[in-house]
Amino acid sequence: MRSVVLVAVLLTATSLHAETGRDAWLRYTELDEAFAQHYRDALPSSIAVLGQDVVEQTARQELIRGIRGMLRRTLRTEQRLPADAAIVLGTSDEFRRLAPQFAITLGLTADAYWLKTTDIKGTRYILIVGGNPQGVLYGAFALLRKVALGDAVNELDDKQTPAVPIRWVNEWNNLNGTIERGYGGSSMFWENEHAREDMSRVSEYARMLASLGINGCSINNVNADPRVLSPDLIPQVARIADTLRPWGVKVAIAVDFGSPKTLGGLDTFDPLDPSVSAWWKSKVDDIYRAIPDFGGFVLKADSEGRVGPSTYGRTHADAANVVARPLKPHGGVIFYRGFVYDHHMDWENLKNDRARAAYDNFHDLNGKFDDNVIIQIKNGPIDFQVREPVSPLFGALDKTREAIELQITQEYFGQARHLVFLVPMWKETLDFDMHIRDRSTPVKKIVGAVVGVSNVGMDENWYGNHMSQANLYGFGRLAWNADLSPRQIAEEWTRLTFGADPVVAKTIVDMQLTSWRTFENYTGPLGLQTLTDIVGNHYGVAVEASERNGWGQWHKADSKGVGFDRTVATGTGFIGQYSPAAMKLYETLENCPDDLVLFMHHVPYTHKLHSGKTVIQYIYDSHYDGAETVERYAKEWKALNGRVDERRYQEVLAQLEYQAGQAIVWRDAVNNWFFKESGIADSKGRVGHHPGRIEAESMRLTGYTPMPVTPWEAASGATAVECGEAKCAAAVTYVGDAGRHNLVVQYFDHQDGVSRFRVWVGSQFVDEWTAADRLPTRKVDSSSSSRRTIRGLELRGGDEIRIEGIPDGRETAALDYIEIVSAQ
Ligand code: GCU
Repeated sequence: MRSVVLVAVLLTATSLHAETGRDAWLRYTELDEAFAQHYRDALPSSIAVLGQDVVEQTARQELIRGIRGMLRRTLRTEQRLPADAAIVLGTSDEFRRLAPQFAITLGLTADAYWLKTTDIKGTRYILIVGGNPQGVLYGAFALLRKVALGDAVNELDDKQTPAVPIRWVNEWNNLNGTIERGYGGSSMFWENEHAREDMSRVSEYARMLASLGINGCSINNVNADPRVLSPDLIPQVARIADTLRPWGVKVAIAVDFGSPKTLGGLDTFDPLDPSVSAWWKSKVDDIYRAIPDFGGFVLKADSEGRVGPSTYGRTHADAANVVARPLKPHGGVIFYRGFVYDHHMDWENLKNDRARAAYDNFHDLNGKFDDNVIIQIKNGPIDFQVREPVSPLFGALDKTREAIELQITQEYFGQARHLVFLVPMWKETLDFDMHIRDRSTPVKKIVGAVVGVSNVGMDENWYGNHMSQANLYGFGRLAWNADLSPRQIAEEWTRLTFGADPVVAKTIVDMQLTSWRTFENYTGPLGLQTLTDIVGNHYGVAVEASERNGWGQWHKADSKGVGFDRTVATGTGFIGQYSPAAMKLYETLENCPDDLVLFMHHVPYTHKLHSGKTVIQYIYDSHYDGAETVERYAKEWKALNGRVDERRYQEVLAQLEYQAGQAIVWRDAVNNWFFKESGIADSKGRVGHHPGRIEAESMRLTGYTPMPVTPWEAASGATAVECGEAKCAAAVTYVGDAGRHNLVVQYFDHQDGVSRFRVWVGSQFVDEWTAADRLPTRKVDSSSSSRRTIRGLELRGGDEIRIEGIPDGRETAALDYIEIVSAQ
């Protein structure tokens, strides 16, 4: 509930000192004096904690820290309940036992909290009552959030219960310190096959998790190294657990199903073999001796080369249960991943379909899992693509516990280099009605746990991109309350992270809320999935990378049409895995939403969408729209200069400008590919026509040699020029109108060196830069394709534009094209 106070918060001084992003949304920046005074009046100046639990002590410390930061007041700590006004913290039990005068009768479940103002004989108290110590901590964070957001705290009566009891993150960290699909630096948990000595980042991260109500963290890659269970690593996991514990976050680990054999020295890992179950039991007991509140395991079995029960002809239930049983008496759970599919499928067989795999593998096992097994199901049936339908498996396991797995790290979403706010996408999944047995059954009501693959790293700003923090924030908020709207979440995050300036807030919220659609527009619209290099880095564009191989991320584009026929009538039957009502939505072209049409159907390029556009024209248009929107984001961000602290302003600007360039790489690659394949021209005449573009291979080259690029669509004209000498040059004579122009240089920046570029117009030196970015490729391709824009050059006909490239290491100072566009 916002109030008048909200108006006042807008007047809060914006703090413009350089920020690193490390404090994320927990900055607790000083409020301006009038406003701080308002809260100092409204909040008692003492604090008392009823219980002894470490998590409650954390709650007290956090309140002291937050109030000191925002209100310049250090709360007085009281050892016992003071006679004058105080903030009082405790579990509902503790209130009943130790402070009966407050007459707390309200029942609170674990992790729930109640913020309540109350008066006893004219003395004012703010009570933070938790269903357990974690609930107290979550209540403390909620109170601080209210102050930071300018919400009223005068008359509090706010009871919050989390939607699901288990809200975990998974961190795909390797023991050597790398992170699988992590884009924010190296692991905060592991280094050189050991837990890090310095756990300070882990503690900071645990605080961020706790502020969102996240209560578990699995600290190693799902592609698990068996050594994580070795006797010398268990004490190290215990050390991590000790760091997480004060924040109410339980530690968990991902395990390898072959461990009884590879680590334990048995000659089998057959889940039905008694020696195997004895091994798991003794291992689990060892862990609980070291970590009494250990959360449990995550297990990826029979998937992408991981061993599993199929080795012995056993079922996933056999596998999950053998690990679950010893966890049970300790209160531990096992998340058994539903991400099981065959990655050697025959592409020629038209009935083969990876999207079917999770359901086909698990639905017969409904009810066969022990009650501390939770099947962890990715939101969609493929793999975190830019748009997928909801996994039908959610509707098939009504006698088995289910978790939804969302990916916070932006693996297929531009890997921290593109702004994509994923909350609107998650929200669509959570709200999707599976219509089980003809009753309204949204996914959010089916799942009993929410898991996010987070993969933060040691970078100051955690994800390598300030904006990406909004995804962790949004994940946590939705895990707590799936009814929150993406707008509410974006507004909260933006105000907490960037301050209360309404212009800043509006700009960022608008960007965030449109960013998923924007990214989809230039990477894979209409349910094509992300048209990236799926067998490589999952980053740059490579339209055919998903076709003609066993991985099954096919979109089946050829000269006549595009899309995967998954209908019951003529296709793979995937759509039949849904309830009749959901089936109806997808089975016919008449009903199928445009956004998923190519996921569900194979159609000619001339097929008309509900929007009235043909498929091919939609592909062209959406790519132009997407690229233009990112360009607009960069412009809008520039308007915030002086309103956002300089460091974050510059870092976000650089990111958005880079993204704008990459969106053009995507636009051209996808559009050229579909144009070549379909032979159908863009009705707006843009595809294949680039006014002002001059291919490097058509320039006067000294030392540079033209090279074909693979895949061909990754470079304009399918060709780049590369330099095999110490120094090369590409020159062209400008023939256009006189006036102010921007010169775009499209060059390639991969990881094998730091090439240099220098640009002259006639004899005037105008720019130089190095290709020193950390892009995920060692090749001249769409991932390394980068853009430099030299603004405001006064050009005259006859000017020579000359680019000099100086290679370094194996990097060849390669150029794709230049573009000269009027700056008027
Ligand atoms: C994706 C990802 C892998 C990961 C897998 C999983 O395929 O690219 O790195 O191991 O998902 O979720 O298990």
